[in-house]
Amino acid sequence: MLQNIELEQFQEMVEPPESEPDRQYYFIAMARKLTAQLEKQQKRKLTYCVTTFGCQMNARDSEKLTGILELAGYEAATEDMADLVIYNTCTVRDNANQRVYGRLGNLNSMKKKTPHKKIALCGCMMQEPSVIETIKKSYSFVDLIFGTHNIYKFPELLVAMLTTEDMIIDIWKDTDQIVENLPVERKYAFKSGINIMFGCNNFCSYCIVPYVRGRERSRNPKDIIKEIKDLVAEGVVEVMLLGQNVNSYGKNLEEPMTFAELLRGIEKIDGLKRIRFMTSHPKDLSDELIQVMKESKKICRHLHLPLQSGSTRILKAMNRVYTKESYLELACKLRKEIPDLSITTDIIVGFPGETKEDVDETIDVVKRVQYDNAFTFIYSKRTGTPAAAMENQVPQEEVKENFDRLLKVVQETARERVRLLTGQTAEALVEEINEQDETLVTGRLSNNTLVHFKGDSSLIGKIVPVKLKECKGFYYLGEMI
Ligand code: 5AD
Ligand code: SF4
Repeated sequence: MLQNIELEQFQEMVEPPESEPDRQYYFIAMARKLTAQLEKQQKRKLTYCVTTFGCQMNARDSEKLTGILELAGYEAATEDMADLVIYNTCTVRDNANQRVYGRLGNLNSMKKKTPHKKIALCGCMMQEPSVIETIKKSYSFVDLIFGTHNIYKFPELLVAMLTTEDMIIDIWKDTDQIVENLPVERKYAFKSGINIMFGCNNFCSYCIVPYVRGRERSRNPKDIIKEIKDLVAEGVVEVMLLGQNVNSYGKNLEEPMTFAELLRGIEKIDGLKRIRFMTSHPKDLSDELIQVMKESKKICRHLHLPLQSGSTRILKAMNRVYTKESYLELACKLRKEIPDLSITTDIIVGFPGETKEDVDETIDVVKRVQYDNAFTFIYSKRTGTPAAAMENQVPQEEVKENFDRLLKVVQETARERVRLLTGQTAEALVEEINEQDETLVTGRLSNNTLVHFKGDSSLIGKIVPVKLKECKGFYYLGEMI
């Protein structure tokens, strides 16, 4: 993309430009000067390590941070060696927060040995005022804290961090801005995530996301299409369109459009082979979208459709705006219209007031829908959400029992479902050399199932036909044909 931008023109400016993204390019140029000076003093390149917690949105944000750092003159390194360590945090469940605090303890010991080491924290967890208080009090060695709304301002904050010893905190409550065209360093050469929208307006009663990611904002379709065209020109064959609720894409644009219309536009991009998207909210999944998926040659045969609970009573308390019956009806329609579609889901166990009978309802939906995979989570109380104030929190022991019961059914049905393709030949996008056996490569089928087969690194990024010989539970062993 703009990796090759002439940074020199910004280096000559005396004052930073007002408009974005020029202002940030000015600071990247300045950061580059600073890193060059430090490089001379230390007789080596400066290094960074970005660790991502949480979802694919965060993974994409980390690619943006990495792109900026590379352009500013940093090189990748391991956490113990890096001059700058960044944690891009998640706060959707409390255990994500605890993991960050645990690792910060380790970083403190590292920083004592190498005091010039800089530590930055960003992402959803930083949008919580109580977290900032804890960090100020107990982790005062942290150098920079910023949030989800001003991530595009990272170059400016990086320069500030490099020129002061004080802790810098810059958190915004919300924003209506979307800054385009900053550098990005992709993890994979052949596939990429693309933000199509930011934030969420749904306020499910257990969820902290709307509070830490702000209100829903859709990107302009022209910007999205241009970004994908540029990626395809660089060799990308698969894109994952990212949003908390992609089915409501486009509602708040100046010229409103639907997600299905956006998909039609993306489908037309020459050279693009596969389109994925997540996450879909069942309440907004239109017939128009099902039709577009059905007719498409590029949209993958996979839909992530979070259920959260199969009990209509609990769904109401969760503010999910659908019922057990309407969800089942939708799943049934999807199965009928697109028979080879794999459906995956998220389920929460232990929402306040949930009884054994409610969990039975959830299990019933799992059995009927036959998910290819279901991510099951134990309810985590998030301060500030309506559910946190509900009085009937379920005792941990009861939650654990229900969770185990559900997990057993989820695994059984998923196994049944995944093995249905045994003996068939399907196209797989080769993603990497197998971690356990380097004579094998790992490919992903359109329906998101993984297959391992003999091959070498020359296949990475290619879509090849593979015979699915043996199902090993949730993945296949295969043979390229
Ligand atoms: N507790 C447990 N799971 C949660 N999720 C969101 N908020 C919570 C919470 N407070 C789950 C939902 C969502 C997924 C990304 O995380 O299932 O779909
Ligand atoms: Fe959270 Fe619900 Fe928004 Fe998903 S749709 S991010 S669960 S509030």
